[in-house]
Amino acid sequence: MSNLSRITVALLVRKIRKEERFSWAVKAAEAFAPDYPGWTTENAVSEAFDDMSLRDAIVFAAFSGENMIGGSLIRPSCLSECAYELSWVFVLEGERGKGVGREVISACLSAAEDDLLGAVGTVILCCPPHNVRLYEKFGFIKGSPIHDGWVMTKILNPDGVISPLASKFTVRGRWNS
Ligand SMILES: CC(C)(COP(=O)(O)OP(=O)(O)OC[C@H]1O[C@@H](n2cnc3c(N)ncnc32)[C@H](O)[C@@H]1OP(=O)(O)O)[C@@H](O)C(=O)NCCC(=O)NCCS
Repeated sequence: MSNLSRITVALLVRKIRKEERFSWAVKAAEAFAPDYPGWTTENAVSEAFDDMSLRDAIVFAAFSGENMIGGSLIRPSCLSECAYELSWVFVLEGERGKGVGREVISACLSAAEDDLLGAVGTVILCCPPHNVRLYEKFGFIKGSPIHDGWVMTKILNPDGVISPLASKFTVRGRWNS
């Protein structure tokens, strides 16, 4: 093995830039489609693109060198104050099992915690049965069943103040510039 091939490329997780939206949606669809029968890559791309374009969504991507290899999305819930929805957590197939998923989930949770300004909050997600253990490792608790899995919830800042006044992501900047 040459010295060059032994160099480990560092992982960078950051908010995506506006112009990276389409490639993010394509990669997300590529990662999700095989696990969701009936979903074509094409309609997954359009769903991912629609979801990331919703107001206040914060979209993260993980890069190994120049290559986008994973991502995740979080946004304030329209259902409740101080609640956030986590979705589109993905890592490309050949990059799984190396901790990339953990990094993109952590980026979303940190963004929500920062946004709460010390208030108590919650994060919810819809989780397929095969990923329940993964989210339990992050402190999510399994709640109601939904048609293809479970609603899972995590309390953020459990020792914080109860406040409806936590700011929203729009104030903090949505895109990496
Ligand atoms: C789920 C997914 C994002 C995990 O990414 P990953 O990079 O392989 O995950 P990591 O390597 O960071 O693993 C983080 C931890 O979760 C565990 N883990 C990962 N996937 C798991 C699974 N399906 N079930 C149980 N544990 C899992 C790992 O062992 C690791 O545990 P550790 O912290 O004790 O070492 C990836 O498999 C994926 O993209 N799947 C297809 C899309 C999808 O289902 N997304 C989630 C929708 S809710």
